[in-house]
Amino acid sequence: MVEQPTVTPLARSPAVRAHVRPASRGVSGHGVPGTPDARGRASPERRASGATLGRSERPAERAARTQLATTRGLFITGTDTGVGKTLVAAGLAAWCRARGIDVGIMKPIATGGRVSADAVQLAHAAAVDDPPALISPVCFREPLAPFVAAQRAGTSIRWSAIRRAFMQLRQRHRFVIVEGVGGLLVPLARRKTVADLIRLLGLPVLVVARRSLGTLNHTLLTVQEARRQELQVLGVILNAADPPSADRGARLAERTNPRALEQCLSVPLLGDASYHRALAHKATSTATWRRQLVAWVERSCSPALLTWILQTSR
Ligand SMILES: Nc1ncnc2c1ncn2[C@@H]1O[C@H](COP(=O)(O)OP(=O)(O)OP(=O)(O)O)[C@@H](O)[C@H]1O
Ligand SMILES: [Mg+2]
Repeated sequence: MVEQPTVTPLARSPAVRAHVRPASRGVSGHGVPGTPDARGRASPERRASGATLGRSERPAERAARTQLATTRGLFITGTDTGVGKTLVAAGLAAWCRARGIDVGIMKPIATGGRVSADAVQLAHAAAVDDPPALISPVCFREPLAPFVAAQRAGTSIRWSAIRRAFMQLRQRHRFVIVEGVGGLLVPLARRKTVADLIRLLGLPVLVVARRSLGTLNHTLLTVQEARRQELQVLGVILNAADPPSADRGARLAERTNPRALEQCLSVPLLGDASYHRALAHKATSTATWRRQLVAWVERSCSPALLTWILQTSR
């Protein structure tokens, strides 16, 4: 396991502040888990864990936290399919590359083609040329949930192959961004879901959620389940994957959801990404597209998230 430096607070790191512009709007000032906020208070995650309240941590909890804290990378899941996991992962990968971070990407399980379109997009954004077998070790042709696609293909997911590929990517890069498939409880086998995949890779989780009506329920459910399964949730990024709605009620929900989530979530809101037409099409790989991704990430993501990535990947 590669060792990772302890995260230092944002406010004490001028070098980091110079790299990161504040998010343009609406994003919580919360730090990511383990990072004290601007007033030096423990993060919500640490407060929730009781680590600063004097409750003695159980050995299993401590072991899990230590193991997670030594992992350089993050796992991007979503509240659903099509919410923008690939775009957010691509944006963060392009941002890492622009900041000189040696970033790797992975789409461990994909469906819907012989080659994963997501993996190709992520590789373009990160400008990596790792072998496809490492980036996308499991890919099923039919556009179904992986468990169903595997059954219909008469096979099952080889967990050891995924873990081996991930370990190799970890050795090749300072920081690895992994995109999940669908949402947290998408079945991968009869009794395994994406949550088990996250545990296998030992990564902290970022949840991408829609901005639109219905997102409060989906996001709270996802975060609650992730925490119930003792995954480390960094926070949530809201993303508008569709153009603004013509419906007044729908627009009102999109406007009010970020604030409502900030109030109701037990983890930080780490981004509020607007719809950006130029990013709406998958098949781009140009330098202009990468620059647009970087600008979009800097506009949309909380400085706490970008700082955490900078510090974690040092
Ligand atoms: N903020 C945005 N602005 C413009 N287009 C977006 C935005 N977010 C997502 N999209 C577009 O919406 C579509 C779905 O996004 P994306 O592929 O990232 O979702 P996903 O969660 O990765 O889906 P899947 O579950 O299929 O992997 C893509 O065509 C993407 O380019
Ligand atoms: Mg995707």
